[in-house]
Amino acid sequence: MSRLALITGGSSGIGLALSKKLAERGYDLAWVSLDEAELAQAKADLMVDHEDLRIETLALDLSSPDAARRVFQWANGLSGDGVELLVNNAGLGVYGDSAGLSIEAEQLMIDVNIKALHALTRTFLPSIEERGGTIINVASNSAFVPTPRLAVYAATKAFVHHYSTALQQELSGSGSPVRVMTVCPSAVSDTPFKERAAMDRVRTFSSFTATTADEVAYDIVVGLDRGSDRVITGAAMRRAMWLMRFAPQSLIQWLTRRETGQI
Ligand SMILES: NC(=O)c1ccc[n+]([C@@H]2O[C@H](COP(=O)([O-])OP(=O)(O)OC[C@H]3O[C@@H](n4cnc5c(N)ncnc54)[C@H](OP(=O)(O)O)[C@@H]3O)[C@@H](O)[C@H]2O)c1
Repeated sequence: MSRLALITGGSSGIGLALSKKLAERGYDLAWVSLDEAELAQAKADLMVDHEDLRIETLALDLSSPDAARRVFQWANGLSGDGVELLVNNAGLGVYGDSAGLSIEAEQLMIDVNIKALHALTRTFLPSIEERGGTIINVASNSAFVPTPRLAVYAATKAFVHHYSTALQQELSGSGSPVRVMTVCPSAVSDTPFKERAAMDRVRTFSSFTATTADEVAYDIVVGLDRGSDRVITGAAMRRAMWLMRFAPQSLIQWLTRRETGQI
């Protein structure tokens, strides 16, 4: 049986770093991203070190209402065995006070980070149940705390965390062969995300808890091997999260406002 990993946002940042690790494990790759030229360039770069690797690409705006159906049809045409690993990684952030951002900019985050992830998860679930496999949904450590200046972004990631965790519990309770893994990266310093989100004032990117895309990808494949339901990336962030269990909510909220440059 062929092993196909479908990774949204596979041509950039965390998705690209994870793609390299999956290629080393023998997966064929299917990428869905927005920018066709970036897809072609990332594919050419990755194939320099992996000559025999199969990478299929689809340039598609995941915020469009029928995106999940189109991705599913495309992926089915790639392999008779279907997708073994679905990685819902594509996402975007926009920095600033909610009242100062356009409604459209905020709704785009909801469309990509929530609606597309949910639709892809639901659309692929029956076929992954048939063959067995894993769905990896990329949330963020901002899923855990209401985050001023990233109010909608953090709320979209809270959705990803809650939905994916509850779905995993439902599936394991019903004996399903599908695992849903939620990934909560701390700030990742070396992907285009920070610039794209205009997060210059966010301190977390230079904090001791910051990670790199390679570290996130490493933690994800370790989580896959262990069968983890949730992966918090970066050893320093995992220690910080453990300590935060003993901290009052008011301190956590103050630290969050400080990290995001609100105070
Ligand atoms: N970087 C961080 O600090 C951080 C921390 C926690 C969680 N995360 C999450 O990690 C995930 C990956 O982020 P990253 O850091 O690797 O950033 P990135 O390099 O900007 O990757 C985002 C990917 O999403 C794709 N994408 C965005 N909007 C899309 C749309 N409408 N349709 C199709 N594809 C779309 C982008 O495609 P194009 O490149 O073609 O535009 C890109 O490949 C995101 O979900 C992000 O929220 C990131």
